[in-house]
Amino acid sequence: MHSQFDPLTEAFLSNPYPFLAEQREEAPVAYCPAIDMWIVSRHADVEYVFLNPDLFSASIAQATLLPLCDAAVDILKDDFGIEPVMSNFDPPGHTRIRRRLAQAFSMKRMRVLTPVIEDRCAEILDRFADAGTADLAQELCYPLPAITIFAMIGFPPEDNDQIKEWCADKLVVNWGRPTEEAQVRAAETMVAFWKYVVAFVARRRQEPADDLTTDLMLGKDMSEPLTDNEIASILFGLSFAGHETTTNQTANCLRQIVENGYWEKLRQDRDLVPKAVEESIRHDSSVIAWRRLAKQETAIGGVTVPAGAKLMLSVGAANRDPDAYDNPEAFDPERAWPKDHLSFGRGIHLCLGAHLARIEMGVILNQMLDRFADLELVEGTPLEFPPNISFRGPVHLPARWTLA
Ligand code: HEM
Repeated sequence: MHSQFDPLTEAFLSNPYPFLAEQREEAPVAYCPAIDMWIVSRHADVEYVFLNPDLFSASIAQATLLPLCDAAVDILKDDFGIEPVMSNFDPPGHTRIRRRLAQAFSMKRMRVLTPVIEDRCAEILDRFADAGTADLAQELCYPLPAITIFAMIGFPPEDNDQIKEWCADKLVVNWGRPTEEAQVRAAETMVAFWKYVVAFVARRRQEPADDLTTDLMLGKDMSEPLTDNEIASILFGLSFAGHETTTNQTANCLRQIVENGYWEKLRQDRDLVPKAVEESIRHDSSVIAWRRLAKQETAIGGVTVPAGAKLMLSVGAANRDPDAYDNPEAFDPERAWPKDHLSFGRGIHLCLGAHLARIEMGVILNQMLDRFADLELVEGTPLEFPPNISFRGPVHLPARWTLA
């Protein structure tokens, strides 16, 4: 067992893959005292856990990694009324809510959204393309997914900057080891954003519009209506799930394409674009770990874990398992379709935004390929990754190019 394994060290954050490979080979299901969790790292074992909600609860998926300090708990206790609705909810409650949300993520809404994404992406690129250089993570990968999910929900565009600020602190608090000061700040912003979402839902009840929020209120099947608090809880979660993941994934994808010399090939053959997107989601996932709780003593890959064991499903390790992929460490968009990666989970909680994320990444890549004859990363400061166990993508990605 690798008792030293700690996914919050600098070395791990900057490149987790050598650590994950060693863990998968030597102790594929093992207790990790540093975070008080069991690490599960083989593809077959991670998939098994995802596919067995009767044995493994999703209830800890959004929990804070460490208990919050008293001051943060105090701030949250009266004014933060969020309830479990999606990724941290088990059946039967989850089944009812997921059915409604899945209807709201309809193909029709995706079709309507696609030209909006294309227009917004063009506007963003117009701002800096001529300069020949930019921090792509901050200036492109960050704003587009945020604008997209907020538009889908129906938040007024003039509120976008404020909402982005509110969403920023949640990551390190729920999935990292934040200072008390950071916990208090995050608790304050979470309360502020929660109040905003509650007020927004109340307004939509009075003034329906053509957006996902209204779809949740006025869906076809109203036999099981959602309460306003459930809708607010869904929107709160979506505001976060819908952009941080895709922002990081787009930055990871651009990085892999450039570092592995695929820019010119993609310019020559656009059929490779969706393959490069999918391969980046496998090879360099923006969600490298996800959590479950063992409901009873049970065996995973031949190792017994106790009832109440907190599991860290190492998606990053599973996606590079040599039992599941040939040459798994290589970024190879030309490999046989890599879609059985576990980056979107599996089973009843399978990511509802997977299709949207693929659309956004495809739009960004195609528009960049249209405009940029070449693309290279600016050498210099090492890439920085936010200190948390689940979400991975470079905070900055300075790059330069020549216009086509
Ligand atoms: C590349 C980008 C993304 C990645 C890697 C990703 C990853 C994930 C993962 C790992 C889960 C948990 C699956 C499980 O527990 O079995 C999940 C769930 C979810 N994701 Fe995503 N996601 C991405 C983009 C999005 C987007 C753009 C949206 C919304 C617009 C979204 C909405 C959701 C929702 C609502 C759930 C909860 C589903 C449920 O519990 O039934 N995701 N995602």
